[in-house]
Amino acid sequence: MIIHDMCRDGLLQALLMRMCLFVICLSLPYALHADKLSSLYSILNIKLNDPLLLKDAVTKGKERAFLCVYCHGSDGNSKRGYIPNLADQNNKYLLRQFEMFSSKQRNNRIMSELAKNLDDDDRVNIALFYSTQKVKSGSASRPELLSAGKKLFISRCSSCHGDNGHGKEMLPRIAGQPVGYLKKTLNSYRNNPDMRPNSPMQGIAPALNKSDQAAVIEYISIME
Ligand code: HEC
Ligand code: HEC
Repeated sequence: MIIHDMCRDGLLQALLMRMCLFVICLSLPYALHADKLSSLYSILNIKLNDPLLLKDAVTKGKERAFLCVYCHGSDGNSKRGYIPNLADQNNKYLLRQFEMFSSKQRNNRIMSELAKNLDDDDRVNIALFYSTQKVKSGSASRPELLSAGKKLFISRCSSCHGDNGHGKEMLPRIAGQPVGYLKKTLNSYRNNPDMRPNSPMQGIAPALNKSDQAAVIEYISIME
């Protein structure tokens, strides 16, 4: 009986061990992801706290961003409606997106290829360059939607993206993004969950009906 119990305990232990290993293996990519991000944030903070290092980083970031100008503009104001502005975007959010693109947790072929080729220092410098540029918001093409859009923004979006739409740290600034990008992005949170998985936006976007979505987008695109 005792031997039988011991065998059973041994088996149980082996089983538990395997389960632990399985869970560790499953969570490893996320742990690595978090480690990588926290090391990027440390480099970021060092540069932010030293005016000379910051100036040097912004200059280098601008030089390194020559590959981005064609789509995101020389000052981070996008050249086309479906491409996001990077100007004034939060630096930690930008770093997180590089990581998401290069690990393909956020799916966009061109951006994944580009992000993979940026080393840690490039990423921090580029994030510092874009986050210190000034965004040029759009002007309303359908002003009749603005007051409904503002109400929706305050009740449904401001708790995370801030009253001014500037977000904070890893929460993106959405104020001043082009209408086309906002529309494409909200539609893909609703219809294409694989594009940016595990996002709170997947619960939020589907709750907007077509006219709510058009109104809130109009308002966000003119916010400064
Ligand atoms: C050929 C056009 C193109 C080029 C060149 C390009 N991008 Fe992009 N980028 C895009 C598009 C399109 C998106 C939006 C992807 C999506 O819909 O998810 C994007 C998204 C991004 C985002 C996410 C922004 C957000 O608001 O979430 C960042 C950050 C970014 N690009 C940085 C860069 C950097 C840095 C470079 C240069 C190294 C670069 N991009 C070059 C087209 C481009
Ligand atoms: C519970 C918090 C939360 C609320 C509320 C919220 N968002 Fe978001 N939103 C996020 C987070 C976090 C992201 C970052 C990216 C991701 O996880 O997909 C994001 C990303 C976005 C993006 C993509 C930004 C980019 O640059 O690619 C848009 C557009 C957006 N939200 C619009 C809205 C709108 C419009 C509302 C209100 C109807 C709203 N959000 C409400 C948390 C929130």
